[in-house]
Amino acid sequence: MNNNIVVLGLQWGDEGKGKIIDFLSKKANYIVRYQGGNNAGHTLVIDKKKIILHLIPSGVLHPNVIGIIGNGVVISPSDLIKEINLLKKQNINVIDRLIISESSHLVLKYHIKMDQSREKFKNNTIIGTTGRGIGPAYEDKVARRGLRVGDLKNIDFFSKRLKEVVNYYNYQFINYYKVPPVSYKDILKELLKIKNILFNIMRNTRELLYKIIINNNKKIIFEGAQGTFLDIDHGTFPYVTSSNTTIGGVFTGTGIGPKYLNYTLGVVKVYATRVGNGPFITEFFGNLSELFYSKGLEFGSTTGRRRRIGWLDIVLLRESIFMNSITALCLTKLDILDNLSEIKICIGYKNNTGKLINNFSYVENFSNDITPIYKIVKGWNVSTFGISNFNKLPKEAKDFVYLIAELTSTPVDIISTGPDRKHTIVCREIFT
Ligand code: IMP
Repeated sequence: MNNNIVVLGLQWGDEGKGKIIDFLSKKANYIVRYQGGNNAGHTLVIDKKKIILHLIPSGVLHPNVIGIIGNGVVISPSDLIKEINLLKKQNINVIDRLIISESSHLVLKYHIKMDQSREKFKNNTIIGTTGRGIGPAYEDKVARRGLRVGDLKNIDFFSKRLKEVVNYYNYQFINYYKVPPVSYKDILKELLKIKNILFNIMRNTRELLYKIIINNNKKIIFEGAQGTFLDIDHGTFPYVTSSNTTIGGVFTGTGIGPKYLNYTLGVVKVYATRVGNGPFITEFFGNLSELFYSKGLEFGSTTGRRRRIGWLDIVLLRESIFMNSITALCLTKLDILDNLSEIKICIGYKNNTGKLINNFSYVENFSNDITPIYKIVKGWNVSTFGISNFNKLPKEAKDFVYLIAELTSTPVDIISTGPDRKHTIVCREIFT
């Protein structure tokens, strides 16, 4: 029986995880974020109304769901509260159904300023971050100078540490980046104003999850943010985010062990997109890219930036399936391919001497020499938008799905044919 499942992205993020988690949440009890921060942007469309979540777990729009933000997530407290209030304005009250880890590291004003100053300062190595301070916050954690939500309980200790850290950052702002410093007093004042809200929702989430798993027959979804190839260790370094977006992030970011997971769903867009810089072998440009951009609404939900577009890459997918111990796939945005007479799928690469390459790691280092090898399949040229029954798909679309399952040796359990909850085909029920 699948009780505890993971949903994570197998490409560069923006695979449509938010919608799928929301869809699966009707049968779940807890949704747990385990890495990243408000760099994520999970777009949900419910009855034509669009809601974008950045920090709060995607399932919370279902009143049966409790959202947990685990220790591996970095939390901007002011943005968290803004998001809670924004949902409240839309009559979605999450404050009684949201728990944050006391060990989560705080993202504060100096992290955001550092993230943005660095990107402005660089010439050739701009990563194209979301500018939310995520990298510097994780750096502080690893450097053991970060401040955690729970540290606010001891305000004397917290204030002293904050002062030290602000001094450390301000030295760099003034002397290296030549930008104005941040105010220690302002940061502390804002935190003192909101600390009680944080205390009300703060817990030891590792212990809580352990109790939920051991004592109750509850269903938990672990919600990944970003995607496999943005992983700090396994992604296209240095064009990555600063957390482990791959499966290991679940364990370090919550404190639970692998034997408590029953199933891992890998979410894959049927083409590929990437925001920010870094290698992207199947990328294409021109009119075709325009078509995907406008039909697929391919702009970042956090920064509004245009996403780069490319064909589905099976080499990359095979690696991410292996890396994450994927049980099954969820294919998203099938309807965006509706009007194409032919569709390309990358099944390998070759370098400039004609040598075949079947390994994405190679590409990270030698991307300039590499060209994709495509298998071209026939399109279906009719609308699949909103179809919720596999048998109603046109033959060519079914064949396309079968082909992806065959090329990746992985079953396809869910297909998404539009942004709404209703636009979903379930090939195999996940929660039994
Ligand atoms: P950071 O996470 O803001 O440091 O950005 C590092 C890289 O990850 C940049 O290329 C971002 O565009 C990318 N990134 C971060 N969050 C997301 C996301 O939720 N979806 C897609 N790309 C993301």
